[in-house]
Amino acid sequence: MRNFINISDCSSKELRAIIDEAKNRKQRRLELNKSASDEDKPFEGKSMAMIFEKPSTRTRMSFDIAVKQLGGSSIILNPESIHYGKGDETLKDTAKVLTEYVDIVMLRTSSHKNLEEFGIHLKIPVINGLSDMSHPCQIMSDVFTFEESKGVITGKTISWIGDGNNNMSNSLIEAAGKFNFNLKIGCPKKYSPDKKILNWAKKNKVNLTITAKPLEAVKNSDCIMTDKWVSMNDKVNKKQKKKILKPYQVNKKLMSKANPDAIFMHCLPVGRGEEVTDEVIDGKQSVVWRQALNRVHIQKSIIIWCLS
Ligand code: CP
Ligand code: NVA
Repeated sequence: MRNFINISDCSSKELRAIIDEAKNRKQRRLELNKSASDEDKPFEGKSMAMIFEKPSTRTRMSFDIAVKQLGGSSIILNPESIHYGKGDETLKDTAKVLTEYVDIVMLRTSSHKNLEEFGIHLKIPVINGLSDMSHPCQIMSDVFTFEESKGVITGKTISWIGDGNNNMSNSLIEAAGKFNFNLKIGCPKKYSPDKKILNWAKKNKVNLTITAKPLEAVKNSDCIMTDKWVSMNDKVNKKQKKKILKPYQVNKKLMSKANPDAIFMHCLPVGRGEEVTDEVIDGKQSVVWRQALNRVHIQKSIIIWCLS
């Protein structure tokens, strides 16, 4: 059994196997209904507990459907309505109890430390469904979605525009190292990636360019990605952050400076009219709805990988 907490914890070979499994399973069920089980039902008789400390639409839905398709069942736990490290029961004890009931846990948390603590005390795998530090399931789905449109990601150029210091950009930097693609981050200096991830990138020879000029960041790019300017629980002066990030909006003009067949990606939820215009997110180059769908397929192969 293995935990899935950060992309950097896995080898390139393991990550490639997860993508291939998602691709094959997706292909094999093209004729099936949305919640029908895969023929082999590898999760039959098993269950997943999901804990969400923060809101979620896609992660919640896609894991629930993924588990159904694998032949198992899921239970969603609201930390407010269970004993969850609030003084009446420690996280350690909650982890021990969950170990007795289910086969795998997915946790969305505001504190990456909670994931690590759960990981230590659970005797079953834990999957990171987003933390303040990383969002590995989303980035794996994005690599998969990119490859469906544009072929193998190795050697391609991806541009990340806007907030360069959040969970998504951290996981994207790790993916650039593991899948060997060129990553160009266009962000203001104030919102540049932090030292820890930059050191990891250096050590792992990531082909990473960081520039404060958005036009430079999208030049020769195969894919432009962005994210909310203010993440969930981001304790910042929102008005000031949005003002600083305004020149980094992905609009028609910025898209036109990338390769003509470049795609646009966004993990959603989106701040329409802020980090991206309606014209771009609803336009022909956007693959955002497929990104959301592919969360189901990638969650399935992450679950299988964790349990193998
Ligand atoms: N992209 C993503 O993780 O969406 P949710 O917050 O809706 O789960
Ligand atoms: N960076 C965003 C991602 C949402 C899926 C957030 O943490 O709110």
